Amino acid sequence: MQSLREALQAAREEFDIEYTAEDIDPLIVESQDGVNRVEAIVSGLRSFAREDDEQMAPADINGALKSTLKVAANQLKYKCTVHEDYAELPALTCNIGRLNQVFMNLLVNAGQAIDENGEIFIGTRFINNEVIVSIRDTGCGMSPEVQKQLFNPFFTTKDVGSGTGLGLSISHGIIEEHGGRIQVQSVEGKGSRFIVRLPVQSQQSTAAPEQQDQAEKTGQVQAKATSKPADSDQQTENSLSV
Ligand SMILES: Nc1ncnc2c1ncn2[C@@H]1O[C@H](COP(=O)(O)OP(=O)(O)OP(=O)(O)O)[C@@H](O)[C@H]1O
Ligand SMILES: [Mg+2]
Repeated sequence: MQSLREALQAAREEFDIEYTAEDIDPLIVESQDGVNRVEAIVSGLRSFAREDDEQMAPADINGALKSTLKVAANQLKYKCTVHEDYAELPALTCNIGRLNQVFMNLLVNAGQAIDENGEIFIGTRFINNEVIVSIRDTGCGMSPEVQKQLFNPFFTTKDVGSGTGLGLSISHGIIEEHGGRIQVQSVEGKGSRFIVRLPVQSQQSTAAPEQQDQAEKTGQVQAKATSKPADSDQQTENSLSV
C-alpha cells in the first residue's frame, strides 16, 4: 500500500499534476478554438476546390471569383489594389472547382507580375451567350517572345523553385474542357490582360485535348468548340471598362 502511495506521489511530481490540473480547462478551450479554426479553414478550402464534387453543375462565376480572390488575397494585399466590376451573369454549367483553379492561377500570375505597387482589375460580362472573365494587371507585361510560349507546359520565366510553368498550360486545358477560349493581350512594361470566354450552351468540348495543334497553344489562343465571330470579341473590348 505504502509503495503504491509513493509511486502515485512520484508520478504526481514527475508529471506536475497540480500545474496540469490548473491548466486543463484553458487548454481544452484553446484546443477547441484551434479545432474550430481548422474546421473553418478546411470548409473554406473545400468550397473553393470542390474536391468532393467533380461534376458539371450550374454555378455562379461572380461568386467563384470572389471566393478565389479571398484565398489569393494574402499574396496580393501588400502590393496590389484590386478592383472588381461584376456584371449580372446567368448560372454557368461547369466544373467550378476546376474553373477556380484557372482564376487562382490568373490572379497569382497577375500578383507576381507586379513588383511593388500595382493594380489588378477583375471584371465579368455576359455577351453573345458567353460568360466573359477579364483579369488585368498593371505589372511587368510580356515580350512577344514570352507571349508565344506562355501556354506551353513548363514554360516559366520565374526563378527555379518559384514557378513550375504549369499554371497556364493547365488553365488552357480546363477552359478547353468547358468549350471556351482564353486570350491574352500584353504590353511589355505596362501590363497584361487575360480574357476567359465560356459559352453558356454547348459546353462539351468535342476535340480531344491531345489532338489539338500545339501551335494553337501559342499567342492569341482560341480553343475550339464554339467559334464566335470577331465582332463578339470587339463587343467585349468595348464593354470592358476594367
Ligand atoms: N500576368 C502576367 N504578367 C506577366 N507575365 C505573365 C503573366 N502571366 C503569365 N506570365 C508569364 O507566363 C509564364 C507562364 O505562366 P504560368 O502560370 O504557366 O507558369 P508560372 O506562373 O511561371 O508557374 P506556376 O503557375 O506553375 O507557378 C510566367 O512564368 C510568366 O513569364
Ligand atoms: Mg502561374
